[in-house]
Amino acid sequence: MTKKQISWWRNAAIYQVYPRSFQDSNGDGEGDLQGVISRLDYLKSLGIDAIWLSPFYTSPNKDGGYDVSNPRDVDPRFGTMNDAEELIHAAHNRDLRIIVDIVPNHFSTEHVWFKEAVASPAGSPARARFHFYDGRGESGEIPPNNWCSIFGGPAWSRVTESDGTPGQWYLHLFDSTQADLNWENSDVHEDFEKTLRFWLDKGVDGFRIDVAHGLAKEEILKDHRDPEGLTRALRLDISDMPREEREFLLSDVPFFDREGVHEIYRNWRKIFDSYPGERMSVAEAWVHPSSRATRYVRSDELHQIFNFDFLIAEWNADFLKQAVEKTIREVSAVDAPATWVLCNHDSPRLVTRLGGGEEGRIKARAMALLTQALPGGIYIFQGEELGLEDSPIPDDRRQDPVFFRTKGVDKGRDGARIPIPWNSELKHFGFTAGEPWLPMPSHWSSLAVNKQTEKNCHLELYKDSLRIRKELYLDRKIRSEKVKKSSEFLTWIDVPEGILAFSRDEFFVLYANTTGNAITLKLESRHLYNEIVLSSSEGALSQDGTLHLPAHTTVWLVILNRAG
Ligand code: NOJ
Repeated sequence: MTKKQISWWRNAAIYQVYPRSFQDSNGDGEGDLQGVISRLDYLKSLGIDAIWLSPFYTSPNKDGGYDVSNPRDVDPRFGTMNDAEELIHAAHNRDLRIIVDIVPNHFSTEHVWFKEAVASPAGSPARARFHFYDGRGESGEIPPNNWCSIFGGPAWSRVTESDGTPGQWYLHLFDSTQADLNWENSDVHEDFEKTLRFWLDKGVDGFRIDVAHGLAKEEILKDHRDPEGLTRALRLDISDMPREEREFLLSDVPFFDREGVHEIYRNWRKIFDSYPGERMSVAEAWVHPSSRATRYVRSDELHQIFNFDFLIAEWNADFLKQAVEKTIREVSAVDAPATWVLCNHDSPRLVTRLGGGEEGRIKARAMALLTQALPGGIYIFQGEELGLEDSPIPDDRRQDPVFFRTKGVDKGRDGARIPIPWNSELKHFGFTAGEPWLPMPSHWSSLAVNKQTEKNCHLELYKDSLRIRKELYLDRKIRSEKVKKSSEFLTWIDVPEGILAFSRDEFFVLYANTTGNAITLKLESRHLYNEIVLSSSEGALSQDGTLHLPAHTTVWLVILNRAG
């Protein structure tokens, strides 16, 4: 890479495929790798740069594959290692990069290490790879501390020793089938480095690091002052806890964002850098205060960290402006690119979060155009480009461990994981020839891919925005070789309440109306000669120095010079 080029990942549009729900190729009702291969042309047509695949590794699938029992193999439900290799190759042939998940906080209790640990005595090297402790109380019947699982219930489960007696407890911050690994153990380090190299050797372009802030634990034998409150505070996407209470609880979490995690990533960075082709990594790390996120993307650590501000954002100009300012300020300090995420497999879909129905969809379109115009990288969750929303799922079809561990109090995350409707004419919209693992709502037929061909539909808006984003901004900037980093180029424009507007360099301006009323604004004199290149809804008009913005609308303007 010459110094002048921008690393591909700094501004990339990365599309998350949740393989189980993307495309089934063998009629078993669950998506698979051959299914993804069959849709690569669709993905290419979207104008994305890379695909992030949620786990497809060997797993009993108690937590959608985030309970990995062999990180260096493919689960037969998803296909074979040959399929994985074919997918990487076929994506690369289309100039699409592949990012895979790595899940270092825990292994499935079906992993050979855990089985070995259970079969070995207390204090054995096999147990030292996990967090095994004796219980408290007369016969060890009380867990070693009072921590709660993020999925609900206690964070400890007790094993039965080989002589049949109740034995030690092991820590699991998530489901009881996901045993936390002990990162003070060198076997763990070695094994994960082996896994990274395994997939890097296969040609993957990067990793999404699950629970990246969780590997180092402190004060593991100490009770927490409010374990249940802490669990609620940690579920930022669903919790409605008052801000002060949450901030207090999140200010010091003994199992998240401890200093020890950074050494791990410094080692991993050396591995990434030892491979050709700019391999990258992105951390899934909910940290508090958010300024601590920059510690994960220092120049010798990871490349990106998900910024989840927009994952919980309202469609509100003030809120959004503050989030953008804060994010850009923070990441600029360490020369890392910002990232923007509107939804993923763990949170309600964007349309749903913004109120659902037609209004939710209108706001979601406007939100997407705002997000895609920001400096940095963007992540798109499968189906976001179709404007899908969560749909009710009968309790007896739910699969998320969150639903079971909270005894149904929290319905869980299945709503966002309903399979993709490809073709309205086909059974189960062409997702599967069998029975889909989650029911697909019949009214989705109008949102199926084959139905979204009209100029202004959700899918075409995404295709247009991704294309224009690239052509107009990125390609032009790279050609001009003016930019080294993406975070410098945003200037706010003064606007009335409820509106948000900024320019990037001299040629791109964005206006977003987050109110329910249309508004007409005077444009700045340097922006008088312009063309609306994209609008999230119909009716936007730039004329005689004014801009007419319908309710809940974002527009992209390209500034022309006087000569046209
Ligand atoms: C974050 C993943 O995105 C989520 O799906 C999973 O349940 C937890 N980490 C635990 O691995």
